Amino acid sequence: MSVLVVLGTQWGDEGKGKVVHYLAEQADYIVRYQGGNNAGHTLIYQGVPFVLHLIPSGILFPDKRCLITNGVVIDPKAFKSEIDILSNKNISTCGRVFISEQAHIILPYHRIIDSVFESCNIKIGTTKKGIGPAYADKVNRLGIRVVDYLEKYVFEELLENNLEAKYPILHDQNINISELKREIMNEYNELADFIRPFVVDTRLLLEKAISRNEKILFESAQGTLLDLDFGTYPFVTSSNPTVGGICCGAGVEPSKIQNILGVVKAYTTRVGEGPFITELFDNVGNFLRDKGQEYGATTGRPRRCGWFDSVIVRHSVKVNGINHLILTKLDCMSGLDTMKICVAYKYKGNVYNEFPASRTIQKYATPIYEEVKGFEGQIKGITNFNKLPINAQKYVKRLEQLVGVKIDLISLGRKRSEVIEVTENVKWF
Ligand code: IMO
Ligand code: MG
Repeated sequence: MSVLVVLGTQWGDEGKGKVVHYLAEQADYIVRYQGGNNAGHTLIYQGVPFVLHLIPSGILFPDKRCLITNGVVIDPKAFKSEIDILSNKNISTCGRVFISEQAHIILPYHRIIDSVFESCNIKIGTTKKGIGPAYADKVNRLGIRVVDYLEKYVFEELLENNLEAKYPILHDQNINISELKREIMNEYNELADFIRPFVVDTRLLLEKAISRNEKILFESAQGTLLDLDFGTYPFVTSSNPTVGGICCGAGVEPSKIQNILGVVKAYTTRVGEGPFITELFDNVGNFLRDKGQEYGATTGRPRRCGWFDSVIVRHSVKVNGINHLILTKLDCMSGLDTMKICVAYKYKGNVYNEFPASRTIQKYATPIYEEVKGFEGQIKGITNFNKLPINAQKYVKRLEQLVGVKIDLISLGRKRSEVIEVTENVKWF
């Protein structure tokens, strides 16, 4: 069987794009199964950094097929602009990018509602791309799927229903509903024609590919702590980046999923609001932000930075059944005198080894740290684990012990080649 899953073990931005770019060479299909253009996966193409939000990172290999399955919410405008950007770089998408007819679409009112909710509900710090409201419509059975969108009269009828259902909130924003409807019909009917050639039954396509033993790489967006069920609710995204998201989000049987690779950053970051027990507000936090260039790839917001939290990564290992780990951005920690690793939390005299569900504990617990010696020097370019400074080696070994999974690969920069293959000849597929 040849299914590999690459997912984030923290709050997103673990470096999944680079890892997928590294592994995609061995795959036949690269598949996005949840989220939307809230993701931001940075890649290096012909020496220049390049961000993809919706189209899977495998697109940079000319012979790979990229799928966006039913669990993703697709903004037709964002999709077209990404295809246009790729075309301008002479990267072909024709016959290589497929989107599911059952994926739901994001329309302008979803973005409006996303912004309105941010200003009057609990502030989540969303990307304001309309992701949550589009998933909410899906759950409310109001959503518009790609297949509905492509049928002009069905689309018009559903659009009318939706605008009626959202009347109070849109009216409150002084939005002229009939004008909005006219604008959407004009713009989005043209976009539908653009999208039509990309639309297929992705579940069937995957079923056939799996039966032919082709290699499928599932690329998650976001991370386990942003998962709607297993993350820091309500400060999460509105989908399931965890492994279970693949079964519903792509229609693949659980028994077909074997290799589950967690991507983990050597420290922790988070964008947006919500608990972050190991967050640093001091110079070390600023040091990590500067060295790691921790600014959102989608929104440009500075990312919050903190020490490695083994409680959340252990949680991710268990929720996803992770059997491989890839450590990223270890090079960005070089130059620190000492480093801290969170091994458990403390709240009101109790010690927590498991990630607590209570939002009070998540907010007020304090980290129990282990302190280790730092390392110095430029480690980018090193390709042999034993050549790393001894304290960097010890740090990696300690992380492995604490999370219970071997680190097979260490990524030390943005370029595809900047990796240490700690375990030789890993059979990823
Ligand atoms: P990648 O794939 C980091 C965060 C937002 C916000 C919360 C909800 O690059 O790792 P949403 O717009 O999804 O409703 O926002 O989720 N968030 C991400 N943080 N990386 C991402 O994706 C994210 N996608 C969403 O900042 O806190
Ligand atoms: Mg991101």
